[in-house]
Amino acid sequence: MSLKIIGTGKGIPEKRVTNHDLAGFLDTNDEWIVSRTGIKSRNVCSHETLTDLAAAAALQALDKSGLRPEDIDLIICSTIGGDYRTPSLACCVSNSIGASCPAFDVNAACTGFIYALEIASGFLADEKTDNILIVCAEMMSKHMDWTDRNTCVLFGDGAAACTVTKGNALKYIDLSASADVSLLQVPSGTGNSPFVDEKKEYGFLNMQGQEVFKFAVNVVESGVKQALDKLNVSAEQIDLFLLHQANKRIVDSVRRALGQPEEKFPLNIAHYGNLSSASIPLLLFEMLEEDKIKPGDTLFMSAFGAGLTAGSCVMVWE
Ligand code: ACO
Repeated sequence: MSLKIIGTGKGIPEKRVTNHDLAGFLDTNDEWIVSRTGIKSRNVCSHETLTDLAAAAALQALDKSGLRPEDIDLIICSTIGGDYRTPSLACCVSNSIGASCPAFDVNAACTGFIYALEIASGFLADEKTDNILIVCAEMMSKHMDWTDRNTCVLFGDGAAACTVTKGNALKYIDLSASADVSLLQVPSGTGNSPFVDEKKEYGFLNMQGQEVFKFAVNVVESGVKQALDKLNVSAEQIDLFLLHQANKRIVDSVRRALGQPEEKFPLNIAHYGNLSSASIPLLLFEMLEEDKIKPGDTLFMSAFGAGLTAGSCVMVWE
């Protein structure tokens, strides 16, 4: 079963933090961050919860698709960590918007949106499921060590949602996990169990940036080539490449390898930083708001993240 997206929404926290703000308490500067990543500012939670952002995105997506919370048959949230370890963020969103359907989270790091689409496609094959709400929401600020300039300058907080229903837009999807868990981690602690041999504290995100960079360029490039081969289309026939916004240099590298023009590779990293799984659906939301996607357009989406996970899909917009 394929699917189509019928509404999108976003939830961004109020507080905007520029590179200059970061330089006020970190040994960094705007020139380094812009030239190495393309990021100029990011928004971070101050008074908002992740549920607030996710619910705002969800309600906007419902509104744009003409659906009410009671029309939703399933809520899938993608996050690397909700407001609680349990209940799931999806249950918190359901409670917040007044839905009454099954709800669960998926954690595939930055690839979570593509994983959620594949899961949604499976559920839509069942006749009892018509409408699914996918919400990708990340509070990266709570996973960062704000004294570590190598990581905290890269990420932001935010949510993006879409409503999906039965349709024929999704033409191709491919997921992977290479099981290299050492390159990007947010360690979980052992709590205060008196029985554990080696006590571990909850930790902050650590990442071998250059290794992840190489993985990202390779996996996105090979993902594009595999999709084009499978569908027997050329890069010229793809109207928009919506790629995970981790580093502008990764997007530029893929674009150059494919010999495609800049306008086919929209970016929002300058204003949001890396929003993990919310990056691609937020980009999709923005492109739709700006009328840059029309029925019949072919979109390629690709993401990568901790795991290391990766995923690509092709949609012909309906
Ligand atoms: N400000 C100033 N200098 C800095 C900063 C900073 N914020 N951060 C690092 N530097 C310094 C380093 O200390 C180093 O200095 P040294 O040469 O004196 O040791 C120098 O800059 C170069 O550092 P590199 O790590 O080599 O910089 P690089 O060009 O590789 O860029 C970056 C680092 C931006 C992290 C890049 O490797 C990258 O984008 N990697 C991919 C990250 C990614 O895609 N993550 C996605 C997954 S996210 C998820 O799944 C949750």
